[in-house]
Amino acid sequence: MTNILITGVAGFIGSNLADALLKKNEFKVRGIDNLAYGIKDQIPSGVEFHKLDIRDKGIYPYFENIDYVFHFAAKNSIIDCQNDPVETSDINVTGSLNVFEASRRAGVKKVIYAESSAIYEGSNLLPTPETELKPESFYAVSKLSGMYFAEAYKRFYDLKTTALRYFCVYGPRQDYRRTIPPVFSSFIIKLLKGEQPTIFGTGEKRRDFIYVDDINDFHIQCIKDERTTGKVFNLGSGVNYSINEIYKMISGLLGTSIEPKYLEDQKGEALANLADISEAKKVGWYPKTELREGLQNSIKFIKNEISKGRV
Ligand SMILES: NC(=O)c1ccc[n+]([C@@H]2O[C@H](COP(=O)([O-])OP(=O)(O)OC[C@H]3O[C@@H](n4cnc5c(N)ncnc54)[C@H](O)[C@@H]3O)[C@@H](O)[C@H]2O)c1
Repeated sequence: MTNILITGVAGFIGSNLADALLKKNEFKVRGIDNLAYGIKDQIPSGVEFHKLDIRDKGIYPYFENIDYVFHFAAKNSIIDCQNDPVETSDINVTGSLNVFEASRRAGVKKVIYAESSAIYEGSNLLPTPETELKPESFYAVSKLSGMYFAEAYKRFYDLKTTALRYFCVYGPRQDYRRTIPPVFSSFIIKLLKGEQPTIFGTGEKRRDFIYVDDINDFHIQCIKDERTTGKVFNLGSGVNYSINEIYKMISGLLGTSIEPKYLEDQKGEALANLADISEAKKVGWYPKTELREGLQNSIKFIKNEISKGRV
């Protein structure tokens, strides 16, 4: 068995990856999360879970005998990060550094960690390649710091890493409890409840959406594929849609004709994002899930949450 540790295991991507790994019957999964945003109930039952904060040096013993670390824990709601830059840095910079250090001390084989396409938010180059570093928000700056620490750990301690820059990941367990929930969840919840969803701005901003199972394929590939080591990869679909187009698709699937309400735009959001995924394609990865299929899975998940009285 290969021993995996996931930070942020109670969150959207972490819990989905834990599920995907356990289904393969070749991985043992240990997970840590301080449950600041994550939900304990969504951690798959086969995970050895520890409620811990990534900033705490007490995490070090939990990295012993671990082969691969997936580091996802983060403060990642852009608006919350703008409101508290110091805590953002504390979690995303110091916390990530502590995870690299724990991994280095335990001699793990590789750390696969989450950066973000937010790093490109100041760029007009579409599709955006991995070389285009233009962070603007506190969140984006904090996520980019991971790359410099990874390089330093490689330089001085030969720690192996792979950095992943996700675009807009969607799918079951996406965190709909945020101050401003991601568009998919917020539209689906409101429309299922017969309420009017909100769109900030004109709805013409374009986003590159990628289904969570597709990024999990790449996560699992990173474990064995040495070509991914020491590299940074964009993970998106390479296609973007406007928020209005997404709205129409979701309301079509749900068979509703409720019109959205348009509110003043959120400050600092890029007009469009679009991943250049040629680096990931070079190592054989490509997104497989059609948007319509992914949306149907998201709708099914939220219907189930509503039926359990969670939403
Ligand atoms: N979801 C996306 O579209 C997206 C896009 C770009 C980058 N990312 C990055 O991917 C990673 C995972 O994102 P997600 O969507 O699963 O987020 P999420 O909020 O669902 O999960 C993050 C988890 O980290 C935990 N956490 C936060 N602070 C912690 C701390 N100090 N100690 C321990 N645990 C802590 C939270 O409780 C939560 O369970 C993040 O690093 C995020 O920045 C996500």
